Parts: sequence; structure tokens; C-alpha cells
Amino acid sequence: MEADLIIRRARLLTLAPLRDERPRVGPSAGDVGAIDGGWLASRDGVVVATGRGDGWRELERTPDAVEVDAEGRVVLPGFVDAHTHLCYAGQRWDEFVARRSGADYLAVLERGGGIHATVRATRDASDEDLIALLRLRLARAVALGTTTIEVKSGYGLEPAEEHRQLRVIAAAVKGSHIDVAVTYLALHALPAARADDRRGFVRDAAQAVRTVADEGLAEAVDAFVENGVFDVEEVRPLAKAARDAGLALTLHADQLNDVGATAFAARAHVRSADHVANASTEGLRALACAAIPAVLLPGSAFFVGYAPPDARRFLAADVPIALATDHNPGTSPLEGMPTAIALGVVLCGLTPHQAIVAATINGAHALGRGGRTGALVKGRRADLALLDTDDERELAYRLGGPIVREVYAEGRRVA
Ligand code: NIG
Ligand code: FE
Repeated sequence: MEADLIIRRARLLTLAPLRDERPRVGPSAGDVGAIDGGWLASRDGVVVATGRGDGWRELERTPDAVEVDAEGRVVLPGFVDAHTHLCYAGQRWDEFVARRSGADYLAVLERGGGIHATVRATRDASDEDLIALLRLRLARAVALGTTTIEVKSGYGLEPAEEHRQLRVIAAAVKGSHIDVAVTYLALHALPAARADDRRGFVRDAAQAVRTVADEGLAEAVDAFVENGVFDVEEVRPLAKAARDAGLALTLHADQLNDVGATAFAARAHVRSADHVANASTEGLRALACAAIPAVLLPGSAFFVGYAPPDARRFLAADVPIALATDHNPGTSPLEGMPTAIALGVVLCGLTPHQAIVAATINGAHALGRGGRTGALVKGRRADLALLDTDDERELAYRLGGPIVREVYAEGRRVA
């Protein structure tokens, strides 16, 4: 087999599956599968071989094959950012400043600010403006090493506007080499105009899932389950609608308070349970039993100022951990996975290697892509990043510094 991309003499983190294809937990939660003096070959966007030493010299090459000498550099799978709210317009500087002076996130939302402020700005933005903003944010994420990213809607609220935003996302990612997983965030906040019609709104959101599935607008459905936002009972019909439509379910669960959302999520067979900073021990046990990844989002704990999820609780309970940016204009404006990794280490208590597992293979599992990306082994997408260091632990250390040098998605240089 001729290779069209060869990366040689790298410290190669393969994240290769160990015994099975399940997300990593327990002693393997920090196993990055490192090969010093490693190489990788790909063809047509798919990894065809990896090895150690000089084996790359013998490979056959296509006439226009690209070769990269990675001596002194770490090469690892492109990051999987399994939770973002990238589709929005406007900013929330004032709210940010007010919250840092003591204003409460849920109280701001209750008063019609917060998510509602972004809903107004996003509704007012044209398709063209939203597409341009999304493309810019995607390009920045890619430049920081992300090759697979989840993008949620959620700033439309009413189904017609949610559908528009999902179509905008589809238009923005068309033709991109990175892998984008789109999610319909159906229950994010109750529109003021529906204050007297909660039941109707929840019903409409569940009904809107049909159109989303029929038009192929998203592969998953999400809801914000929180005190004063939506409760578990309100999410039930949405979960059923997702199941009936063949879409995955994921939840914003127990972010600020324990509302029993994590245990509910496990019972509802979610693809991932996200935030989970205040998940109960019962919730953790339920996730572990079902091998469902918890997506930790330290950026929002950092910017909002609540206690971050304690990774050691999840590790002790054998819950698979993924890490994501949660990029959004309200709780987590941070950009790029290296910062999420650093915060996962500094705030949540992951080791640097556990954070890398969480940002690659376990993130892939959180998006139902555990067999497609997140590891550099034969048959997977050739999604990878070259770091400007020979020690990957520096990812958790060089906060804010430019550490990602080159990024390839499906074997093509994308940054
Ligand atoms: O993941 N908490 C719910 N949703 C987002 C924030 C949305 C916003 O404040 O705009 C989150 O934190
Ligand atoms: Fe979120």
C-alpha cells in the first residue's frame, strides 16, 4: 500500500485500544500508548500503518506523498472537543463582569439575561453572519489541534429558529475536513413568551426532533437539566422523541446543583453526560455501570466560579472521563483543547496523561466515534496534531502558549 502522508521520528502517542474498544477507565485512564521514535503512514485520509524505528524507510509512496520529520516532537491524535456551543452571535462582557462581582448565573438567566441575551443576538444575526462567525471559530479550534468537534444549537429556543440555526451549522461545515457532530440543544431555556406555557414549549421541542431527524440536521439531542431551568420529568418526552427518531441523547447534567440528572442520563442511555460537577455518587455509579463517558467542562467552572468537577471521584468510580471546552459566550469563552486540558489538570485533578486520554479517545467515545478517531492506529482517520515539544505533559503546563505546530485532518494539513 502506497502512503500519501508519512510522519517519522516522532514521539507518537497512539492511544491504541488496549483490550477492547471501550472508553478508557481505571489503570488505563492515563495510558497514551507512547512510541518513542515512532512513525505513521496514511493513505486517502486513513492510517495504514504505524511503527517504531526505521520501518518508514521501506514504505512505498505516492508520487506526491508528504513527509514530515517530527524529531523532537510529540505527535498525537487530533483533539476531540465533545461539547461546544459554537453557533452564536453577540458577546456578554457586561454579564461576565457582573458575575465576577457576585451576580449569580441562574439569577441573571431568570431575569431574562444570560442565555436569553445570546438568543436575542443570534436571532437577529443573518445566516451569512452566523456562518462567517462559525467558520472563524472552527478555524481557531482547528489551529489549536481540534479535528473532531461537537457543535450545538440552543440559542434559538423556539423550534423554527433552532431549525434555522441547525441549517446554518450544516452550511458552515460543508466541505470541511474536520469531523463535526451536530447536536440539537432542544431545551436550553424557556422563552419569556412561553412563561405560561411550559408544557406546550416542552411538547413543541420534543416534536421538533422529528424534523431534525428527517432533515438530517443533527445526530444528537441535548437539554439543560438544572434548578429553575428544566427538570428530569420535562426531559423524559424529549428523550423518548430522540430514541424514536434514532438520534443520540446527551445532557447538561448537574452542572450547578445535583438535580438527579446524571442518574437519569444513565437510565436514558445517553451518549455522554456532560458537566456533572455536582453529580451524586449514585449518578457516578450508574455511568460506570453503563460505561458512559462523563464530559468534564472545567472552563465553565473556571469562568463562572463554581467548584469544578473532581476528576478523582470519577476515576475512583471507574467512570470514563472526557474533556471538552464547552465554548460558549456565557459560561466558557475559552478557545481550544490545550486550555481545557490544562484546566482539567489544574482544576479537576487529572494527570496530564489522563487529560490527553480524555481529550482524544475518550472524547471520541463521548461522540459515538470511538472506532473512527481519537487513536492513531490502522483503519482510523488520519487526524493528528504535531506539538512544539518532546514531552506531551507540557500541554497541561504551557497555559495559553502556542504549543500546537501542525494539524492534519483526514491526512490533510488543516492548520
Ligand atoms: O454549558 N449551562 C448551560 N449551557 C451552557 C451555557 C450557555 C450560556 O450561558 O450561554 C453551558 O454552560
Ligand atoms: Fe454546555
